[in-house]
Amino acid sequence: MEITKAIIPAAGMGTRFLPYTKAIPKEMLALLNKPAIQYIVEEGLNSNIKNFLMITGRHKQAIADHFDIAPELSQFLKEKNKLDLIQSIEKIIKAAEFTYIRQSEPLGLGHAVWMARHSIGKEYFGIMLPDDIISNKAPALGQLIQIAHQEKASVIAIQEVPNECVSSYGVISIKKQISGSLFQVGNLVEKPQQKDAPSNLAIIGRYVLSHKIFPALDEVSRYAVGELQLTDGISQMIKNNEKVFAYKVQGTRYDVGTPVGWVKAIIGLALQDPNYAPHIRDFISELHSTDVRLMSKSRNIFHHVA
Ligand code: UTP
Repeated sequence: MEITKAIIPAAGMGTRFLPYTKAIPKEMLALLNKPAIQYIVEEGLNSNIKNFLMITGRHKQAIADHFDIAPELSQFLKEKNKLDLIQSIEKIIKAAEFTYIRQSEPLGLGHAVWMARHSIGKEYFGIMLPDDIISNKAPALGQLIQIAHQEKASVIAIQEVPNECVSSYGVISIKKQISGSLFQVGNLVEKPQQKDAPSNLAIIGRYVLSHKIFPALDEVSRYAVGELQLTDGISQMIKNNEKVFAYKVQGTRYDVGTPVGWVKAIIGLALQDPNYAPHIRDFISELHSTDVRLMSKSRNIFHHVA
């Protein structure tokens, strides 16, 4: 099985990032000097993905423009001998093929994936959610692809989360533990209450799925209320006797779908980059010492008042 296609669902409203996302796609949020979605495509290319199926909607034109050539800009930079400034993106444009599919209404992640059904043959394919930036030498999607080859089955990425956080995620129940990091999935539950959660193994934004997901999504869409959930489609696949595995991917994950996660991502990525790290480290220690001074000042005030 060769896995060369990946769906990138990017048609959501990004309500957790309003008002920023009113006119600008959250996938174009800057992480240092690159938009978040460029990190996703780079991870895909490093995982041998050649064809990216972007699910977009209104206000998302900037994404297509980013992954297209800009002849005037190239000419301008060439004259100034500064072509290296756009080298990373030009490399991507040469290596990858992009297909844009419009999801005219954000009817859920399951629906976004289903929109790409005609572009996927009878093959396995990747799904990469641009909210989740996973930083690691071995790319996260590539880790899943390796397991998919090994097990000849679908694989989803998971991460252990604190029990009090399970209600923000889809969570798996374990049918069988294969190794320390690999599980066969019994079922998936979307955003369970802590008391109902079958585990604290949360689904994060990378998947390798069989094309059998599409008929499964058709089945669940018949009785779906509200958004069509991808987790419901995967649960249906399991009911249809497809094996699904879950793998604890290695890497540091940043949820850039919220302002706090985005700030953490910028700091984390900057600290890994020798061009930024010394400046950011100095800045953090300055902040820290100001914080300590302020804290001891407020303690003095407190003692004084007491
Ligand atoms: P999220 O629910 O995290 O993103 O979906 P959102 O809906 O854009 O953000 P909030 O919750 O309102 O803040 C995960 C991914 O799936 C895409 C989103 O763009 C995001 O990348 N998505 C979601 C779609 O493409 N279509 C949808 O109908 C829903």
